[in-house]
Amino acid sequence: MYAPCAKTCLLDYRDAKTKLARIVTFYNGVKVPVMGIATAEIEPHITTRCVREAIESGLRHIDCAPIFCNQEEVGQAIKEKIDEGFIKREQLYVSSKLWNTRHNPKWVRRALEETLKQLKLDYLDNYVMHSPMGFRDSLVNYPRNNRGELLFSDVDYVDTWHAMESLVDDGLVRSIGLANFNAEQIARILEVARVAPANLQVECHPYLTQKNLMDFCCKHNMVFMCYQPTGPTRKKADTRIIPLKSHPKIVCLSKKYDKNPVEILMRYQVQRGNVVLIKATNKDQMKQNVNIESFQLCRKDMKMLDLMNCNFRNNLISSATGHPHHPFENDCS
Ligand SMILES: NC(=O)c1ccc[n+]([C@@H]2O[C@H](COP(=O)([O-])OP(=O)(O)OC[C@H]3O[C@@H](n4cnc5c(N)ncnc54)[C@H](OP(=O)(O)O)[C@@H]3O)[C@@H](O)[C@H]2O)c1
Repeated sequence: MYAPCAKTCLLDYRDAKTKLARIVTFYNGVKVPVMGIATAEIEPHITTRCVREAIESGLRHIDCAPIFCNQEEVGQAIKEKIDEGFIKREQLYVSSKLWNTRHNPKWVRRALEETLKQLKLDYLDNYVMHSPMGFRDSLVNYPRNNRGELLFSDVDYVDTWHAMESLVDDGLVRSIGLANFNAEQIARILEVARVAPANLQVECHPYLTQKNLMDFCCKHNMVFMCYQPTGPTRKKADTRIIPLKSHPKIVCLSKKYDKNPVEILMRYQVQRGNVVLIKATNKDQMKQNVNIESFQLCRKDMKMLDLMNCNFRNNLISSATGHPHHPFENDCS
């Protein structure tokens, strides 16, 4: 029933004195540790400490973005661990993203160069278009008119993609990918891509299992990466959705496997063959995340988690409602 499409294997990071970590391989051979630390919403003043601890704990996949406003601090941590001789650059998988105000092809290289400078790196393992929706060229992240309305650009994400392809040609990024795209939008890229997208990052958890999109990515050799694997954190006032961490079914699995609810939710995705991007600010939790191979959910429990799907999307990107390339407004995938 569960046949992860990406080639998954176990590699031993003996040189980093850490435990086993599962790796998936992009179509072009780039190796990706399945457990990544999402640096979104980690406050800048604790980011360097968190990323240092993540590396010390054995996490080798660091997911960044300029919109997270902490890339300088992430870069500082990476530099310190490399300078200390704890790790080599090539043992890390570092990804970042192109923000929506930089979709105009003339800004793409500049945006990457700024990110590399902040991260203190000379290449990225993966560069992701953060969204199919371009915003007006601007130095602010959410440009608005004097009525407070978000200003969109009419740049086609296909043109942005072609500009990203040249970054691969020039050795600045080892692979390129997409985030928050629907299947129809990915298909448009695949039709014309000279460098195919290696991965897709989207919200994914038992309330939004994304089975069709996962199958689509599998068919096109794209690794599926889940952000917000713990789902909505607060009870939504306007729905009957309750946080997954306190859902009776997850709590029951937590007791059965003697793992905390978040470990159950991460393991679910790993067993589906997916990569997990999860925020973590606590070193004990980071160690648990590295140690995700220490248990296995049985078929029946995996099926039960699949059946919790109700297509509930937490991240509706409602700030950009009305954008012609909004990925979720008319999505049938
Ligand atoms: N491509 C994209 O667009 C993209 C990519 C990545 C993330 N994001 C965004 O990232 C943001 C972060 O998501 P989120 O914080 O809601 O969700 P999350 O990444 O699912 O993390 C939820 C919480 O899980 C906790 N946690 C981590 N490891 C744990 C463990 N082993 N045991 C127990 N708890 C553990 C962390 O707690 P602590 O805070 O205490 O460490 C964290 O706050 C979202 O806004 C999402 O939209 C977007």
